[in-house]
Amino acid sequence: MSKVTVVGAGKYGSTTAQRLAEADIADEVVITDIVEGLPQGLALDMNQSRPVVGYRTLVTGTNDYADTAGSDVVVITAGLPRKPGMTRMDLLEVNAGIVTNVVNQLMEYSPEAILIVVTNPLDQMTTLAAEVSGLPRHKVLGQAGMLDSARFAHFISGATGADILDIEAVTLGSHGATMVPVPSLCKVGGKPLAEALDADTIDELVDRTRSGGAEIVGLLKTGSAYYAPSAAAAAMVEAILTDSGATMPVCAWTEGQYGIEGVYLGVLAKLGASGVAEILETPLTETEVAALHEAAVAVKEKVEDLRQLGQDGE
Ligand code: APR
Repeated sequence: MSKVTVVGAGKYGSTTAQRLAEADIADEVVITDIVEGLPQGLALDMNQSRPVVGYRTLVTGTNDYADTAGSDVVVITAGLPRKPGMTRMDLLEVNAGIVTNVVNQLMEYSPEAILIVVTNPLDQMTTLAAEVSGLPRHKVLGQAGMLDSARFAHFISGATGADILDIEAVTLGSHGATMVPVPSLCKVGGKPLAEALDADTIDELVDRTRSGGAEIVGLLKTGSAYYAPSAAAAAMVEAILTDSGATMPVCAWTEGQYGIEGVYLGVLAKLGASGVAEILETPLTETEVAALHEAAVAVKEKVEDLRQLGQDGE
């Protein structure tokens, strides 16, 4: 019996639950939220789509953590999204409170679960979830790099005219200002990105990727992106549930890779039944390694902000 819980039945959570259910890789997907009726209504609606779409996964909507008991993987989306003009950091205090509360309740019923955090600010919320849960670090990871890489791939496809499915794009670092898109690891039709686009164009795409979330927030006016984010989170869950060993850019606990340790940072990792099975140290240019170090310093500073709030569960 495999069971996945999605905490937060908002835009991100509901689309993640839908993608997971339609992928038909779990016996049960539970959606939970503090709003009464919301997860139950969404679950009923999704379940009724099963004969049309053709999948068996049963979706349960609940406000009671007892129903999440024995989850193998949990995706934490609970929290407020950004409004136009807000940075992810502006969400820190309120979302820290929510994530602490959610993780404490989850651990009561699913002490063995693997936690995938998507609530922003991502790097801090992932750190917080790891500390509050007390789980081994490889069982707590954050979704950011899959999404940022997908955005980068979309922009590369637009600029080159190449088939979106022929593009490999990688972003590392933080989910924010110190995001590190990695042109040296990007490929178009199997060839280096630098052969397809000039340096100025690549820089423009890198900048647009870095502010890719804000661009969508600005257009939507209320709420933040969820289609690509939920696709990214669902892909991570699938890799873990199926123990696929797929390599993905994720926010993971570093232990000396690239000379960086003791911080949650976007790196390439193999995902499997244990969560983060291995962090890969793919060769990077000097500039890219320097940018990764800069991102690590920035995240460490922001984790300090979190500690100032006194909500890190310690
Ligand atoms: N427990 C469970 N659910 C909660 C809690 C809580 N303590 N607090 C808030 N929620 C729920 C809200 O009721 C709401 O249904 O979280 C949901 C958030 O949904 P949206 O407002 O639609 O936000 P969404 O777009 O899903 O983003 C969620 O992901 O990308 C990040 O920055 C984004 O941190 C935000 C998160």
